[in-house]
Amino acid sequence: MTKNNTTIILAPLQGFTDVTFRNVFSDNFSGVDEAVAPFISTMGQKRLKPSRIKDVDPENNKKLFVVPQILGNVANDFIFLADHLYEMGHKKINWNLGCPHSKIAKKNRGSGLLMYPDKIDAFLDTILPKISNTLSIKLRLGRKSKDEIFNLLPILNKYPLDEIILHPRTGIQMYEGTSDHDAFEKALLCSQHALTYNGDITDLNTFHIVQKKFPCIIRFMIGRGLLSNPFLAEDIKGVLVNKNQIDRLKKFHDDLFDNYQTIFSGPAHLTGRMKGFWRYLGPSFKDSRKQLKKILKADSITKYQDMVEAFFKTETEFIKK
Ligand SMILES: Cc1cc2nc3c(=O)[nH]c(=O)nc-3n(C[C@H](O)[C@H](O)[C@H](O)COP(=O)(O)O)c2cc1C
Repeated sequence: MTKNNTTIILAPLQGFTDVTFRNVFSDNFSGVDEAVAPFISTMGQKRLKPSRIKDVDPENNKKLFVVPQILGNVANDFIFLADHLYEMGHKKINWNLGCPHSKIAKKNRGSGLLMYPDKIDAFLDTILPKISNTLSIKLRLGRKSKDEIFNLLPILNKYPLDEIILHPRTGIQMYEGTSDHDAFEKALLCSQHALTYNGDITDLNTFHIVQKKFPCIIRFMIGRGLLSNPFLAEDIKGVLVNKNQIDRLKKFHDDLFDNYQTIFSGPAHLTGRMKGFWRYLGPSFKDSRKQLKKILKADSITKYQDMVEAFFKTETEFIKK
């Protein structure tokens, strides 16, 4: 049973869940209540990357409530970006302490900072009195060890935070293995902040397992599960109608394609972006391997469109439930 107050948050997925995706998704599916946008890196105090700022422009984000996410570890640069976001209208922001990629972690950003709770303490102590936005944090259990979080949570307890979104893996684990539910439970006991669960909710069954294990959790963040099954949030909320699913997916695809076509200048850029989605969505159709391979191999826009047309004609069953 899904509780009435269950909130589903679209996870930030760099290269996937940008403003175009978020708007097209909201036009075609229901059930997702809000989103955290893919991270915006701090770039000193004089520079802002226009495309990243545009991604969270409230003017373009009217369909789904969005919280911008900042990646960075220099307090003054963070304050500069947070202020800019506040002036744009963002009352809430999120700090990325989870990014697992070694290039980022090596610079003590993302999950790389989790080994240094004192640095996080000093950072929050400096920024929180100076920013006007409220802050949530998205993190992993640690960089190298899943115990790192237990040194950090008492520090986070000292500060006012909107919530902590926890993906219970370590940074070096990347996406290997499974989400560690025992560690999540331990973190729940040690945190005075509201926790949001994030990790490996891929279908109704995995959602129910998490919900049953953590009855006090009402906010769930889902990333890859929504890419592979865009109906998942409708299913969780009990509003999924088992009708016209293939037609709905085709319309979703076509809307995404049309929108990206107006944004990306080069054909490889456009097909590359669309193929990214297919890698998640394609395997959710019954016996789709051969047809999917043809889409992923398409080396021109025309070929890509022909292969997608053929895919939707032959694939008649969406099996991901
Ligand atoms: C391609 C990709 C890009 C991601 N980009 C971000 C990001 O920009 N910020 C962030 O906090 N997490 C990012 N993540 C992590 C996801 O938000 C999420 O924590 C992770 O995928 C686990 O959730 P899931 O199992 O529901 O996908 C990314 C993950 C993937 C696979």
